[in-house]
Amino acid sequence: MKKILITGGAGFIGSHVVRLFVNKYPDYMIYNLDKLTYAGNLENLKDIDKKPNYKFVLSDIKNGESMLELFKKEQFEGVIHLAAESHVDRSISHPTEFVMTNVIGTVNLLNAAKFIWNGNWEGKLFYHVSTDEVYGTLGKTGFFTEETAYDPHSPYSASKASSDHFVRAYHDTYGLPSIVSNCSNNYGPNQFPEKLIPLFINNICHNKPLPVYGKGYNVRDWLYVVDHAAAIDLIYHTGNKGETFNIGGNNEWRNIDLIKLLCKITDKKLGREPHTSEKLITYVTDRAGHDLRYAIDSFKLQKEFGWKPSLRFEEGLEKTVKWYLNNQGWLNNVTSGNYQKYYQEMYGNR
Ligand code: NAD
Ligand code: TYD
Repeated sequence: MKKILITGGAGFIGSHVVRLFVNKYPDYMIYNLDKLTYAGNLENLKDIDKKPNYKFVLSDIKNGESMLELFKKEQFEGVIHLAAESHVDRSISHPTEFVMTNVIGTVNLLNAAKFIWNGNWEGKLFYHVSTDEVYGTLGKTGFFTEETAYDPHSPYSASKASSDHFVRAYHDTYGLPSIVSNCSNNYGPNQFPEKLIPLFINNICHNKPLPVYGKGYNVRDWLYVVDHAAAIDLIYHTGNKGETFNIGGNNEWRNIDLIKLLCKITDKKLGREPHTSEKLITYVTDRAGHDLRYAIDSFKLQKEFGWKPSLRFEEGLEKTVKWYLNNQGWLNNVTSGNYQKYYQEMYGNR
């Protein structure tokens, strides 16, 4: 069985990637390595965690020795690396943690892969999942292409940019087969309610203020998480080593417009009068270093692989709102921290 290591598989995007790979490739053994930080939640994977081709590994990518031991023991042929600290606001208050996990953690994995593959690169791949935020900010026009120069502004994007550079440096210096993809903002089920869309759905449900940073004119390009997972699958299996792929939704929204749409959809589903939740919108001090606009040009991916987003945004957002409303237990567990007991219950005696 081909052994593939997916890091950060208990998180938002990672859980969708793990599910896709476990279900689609029964002849792969999928190892999900996760430290289970506040953002890692094994409940996200309870539908597949008994499958024979799935194994959970509780570990920390910051620990280089543990990574080396694990790679020596399991002899992975592929790595799909998603584990990271991922929230810009947390990076502003705790930047060092982002360096340790996103930069040092990535280098630890690169070292472990380089050590066990030892120049036998055939059939091996280190796939690094990154973000469009490394490119910095756009003005009112233009798009990020694979050639856009890096210009990160937040500690989060600076740490991701650094990790991308290390992945490419290991390719160029040692020949380590690697691919980097840079994706726009994801949304969908299982996202931790610190990010805009799940936070606001949760606040609407509880009639809590919706804190809009600045004037709400910042623009993001939104992609449904399942479409990101599908793109990762395609790129992992067919992308050329050493290349970069931009992944985006071709779906730009000003925050304030998105928030009004979210209020409309959620009010309707909750049986509230139209415009009820818009009253919760509260303008607050802008985020420091807040990037104005992200927009991805994913022409390369579309042209080479025929990939495109499967959903219109309104459909994706409806599905997403429906998921959070139908999974209040998940939301409550996550917001109360109860989900952290899940590991103990599920895995404590194994
Ligand atoms: P997330 O915060 O939901 O999940 C991160 C996961 O990594 C969690 O399960 C966490 O427990 C795990 N983790 C954190 N530190 C770890 C460590 N030291 N060792 C092992 N595991 C650790 O993040 P996400 O939104 O799913 O993002 C996943 C990846 O995709 C990240 O690399 C992020 O930069 C990238 N990305 C995210 C977006 C987005 O919109 N969310 C867009 C583009 C790229
Ligand atoms: P976020 O989901 O944190 O993603 P990112 O910063 O990585 O793009 O934020 C998306 C946008 O929403 C961003 O412009 C910041 C804004 N935002 C708010 O206005 N209020 C909030 O409470 C949050 C979390 C984000």
